[in-house]
Parts: sequence; C-alpha cells; structure tokens
Amino acid sequence: MSPVYQATASAPVNIAVIKYWGKRDTKLILPTNSSLSVTLDQDHLRSTTTSRADASFERDQLWLNGKEDEIKPGSRLATCISEMKRLRKEVVEDKNLAEPKISQYNVHIASYNNFPTAAGLASSASGFAALVASLAHLYALPVSPSTLSLIARQGSGSACRSLFGGFVAWQMGSDAAGTDSLAVQVAPQEHWPQMQALICVVSDDKKGTSSTSGMQRTVETSPLLQHRIKYVVPERMERISKAILERDFDTFATITMADSNQFHAVALDTEPPIFYMNDVSRAIIALIVEYNRLSIANGGGYKAAYTYDAGPNAVIYALEENIKEIAQLIVSYFPQKPGEFKDVLGLFGAGAADV
Ligand code: PMV
Repeated sequence: MSPVYQATASAPVNIAVIKYWGKRDTKLILPTNSSLSVTLDQDHLRSTTTSRADASFERDQLWLNGKEDEIKPGSRLATCISEMKRLRKEVVEDKNLAEPKISQYNVHIASYNNFPTAAGLASSASGFAALVASLAHLYALPVSPSTLSLIARQGSGSACRSLFGGFVAWQMGSDAAGTDSLAVQVAPQEHWPQMQALICVVSDDKKGTSSTSGMQRTVETSPLLQHRIKYVVPERMERISKAILERDFDTFATITMADSNQFHAVALDTEPPIFYMNDVSRAIIALIVEYNRLSIANGGGYKAAYTYDAGPNAVIYALEENIKEIAQLIVSYFPQKPGEFKDVLGLFGAGAADV
C-alpha cells in the first residue's frame, strides 16, 4: 500500500489593536504600516484545515465549509499553495531527502470555519494561517512560524499574525521583495493570562466593502492615512508593546481605542467614504466610554477597551476580573432584537495558536 500524505492544522482568529489598513504592494501584500494583535484562544473562532497530497489528484482543489472554492491561477490561494510547494522542494534539496515527489503531487484541501465567514470576524486570518500550517505539516517543513508568516501574509495580510499565539506584531519591513515583512511574537499568552476578549456579534451579515477594495480606496484617496502611517503608528507600536510587556492595562486600553477610532476615521476619510460601524457599534462605544469614566472618577483605572475591524462587531478587551461585569452590562443594555444585537459570543482568552 502506498503511504498517505495528509495533515491537519487549526488556527484561531486574531484581533488587531493597532490596525493594518493599506498596502504598499498589493501582489506581495506588503503593508503601509506595522500592526499588532492578540490571538484568541478558544474553540469558537477557529479554522481547521486538512491537506492531502496524492499522485492520483488531477489538480489542486479546495473546499471551504464543504463547498468547492475555485483556485484561480495567480490568486492568493494559488500563491500560498505554490509557495509552500516551493519551500518543500527547497528543504528536500537542502537535506537530500529520499522522497522528493510529494511537492509534485497535487493537493486537496478541506477547510472549516466554526463561525460566520467574512463577517468582520477575521475569517481570512485564521483560514490562511490554518492552510499554511497544514501544508507545513504535510510537507514536514522544519521552518519557524515567522517563515510561515511570510507565506500566510500573501493569502491575507492579517493571517500572518495568526501563526503565533499571544500578542503578535506584524513588522511592515522595508524590503521591496517582502522578505522582512513578517510576524513576531511580542509576548506569549502566559505572560498576561488575565487578558480576555469579549466578542459582541452585532451582525453576522457579509460585510459591505471588502478589506481589499476598502484599503485600496483609502490608500488612493485619504490624506489622513498618510499622517497615520508616518506620525501615529510607529510611536503607538512601541508604546503598546511596552504596555504589554509591563502588563499596563491603562496604556493598552487607551491606545487600542484610539487606534480603532483612527482606523474608522481613515475609512470615513476615504472617497467615497466607508462606514463599517453601525448605530449599535457606536452605542457600545458610548457605554464603554461611560463605564471607564465612572471607574476613573472612583479612583480606579480603565476597565475595558473596545476595538472594531472592517465590520460592525465589537471586540472588548478587558482583564478577567472585569469580564463578567462587562458581559452583563452589554447584555442588559442590548437585549437581543432581530437585526440588532445578535449575541455575546463568549469569553475568549488571548491564547496560543494550535498550529
Ligand atoms: O487581512 P485583511 O485583508 O482581512 O485585512 C484586515 C484588516 C483589519 O482587520 C481591519 C485590521 C487588522 O489589522 O486585522
């Protein structure tokens, strides 16, 4: 019997606290600024991907949630698969392995998301991270997560950060070929295990403007983006990394909320403008602002930090001791009505990716 070449890997979503928005190279997916995120570690928001290579497969094929998704030549999916095959060839040549053929076989890939796809819940991040990780297992590649992040990045920029657990930076790099635009871990989850995330699903509809076309429009038209890239993000990256290393929630929270606000301001500064948040999103912001104001007025510090990606759903970062109170507050102010506030999905520790 011939051997079976098959591997499965799973990766969680990550939610940025310093947002990536803008590409300086659209083919290689090189960003206009560095970004930083927290990888969520629970079973609810994950992609799980199985890859199989076999001499009998006539072409590469992919199924997403059970439905075949065409792998178009030159697409990001095709790029990730061919880059992984190239890595396998390199390793085989380097190590003089006896069994070089597997990189010549076509692959069949099946991927499942256990949450709504393309609803502003970072499904492309976990999806491409799991894809690259499963091919790395299939090809037994002895490479670091940072090396894999170079390839996941070419699937979806934010995917490069899901190759690590904990607190992760995507360094924008300066090389035109993209060899230094990769993810690094700022701190593992165990460094600050009290950090939790509450996901409030305001809507699980597909988003209106995709991140790809939104970013392109912003890069072409927003003067505010140029200011953000040059004067705001580099300093925020440094300060929030330090805040994470020092477990300083006040600084972490102020920077996280300011950066979410600026990302949505940049979207509004785009021509024509892009609106990702809705009235419920804005009402959640008002609630968190008031909640923090009361805590500070009573001599405490910040207790919660909201952030929004390219969609209306809120992610609230808070320390474990405050999460229950915040969840109760959200549910009492936003009883679920059809078409409005859908669900508080649950509590998510910031955790290690299982890749
Ligand atoms: O990787 P993409 O193309 O899905 O873009 C993600 C953009 C944001 O989620 C809005 C920000 C980020 O850094 O994740």
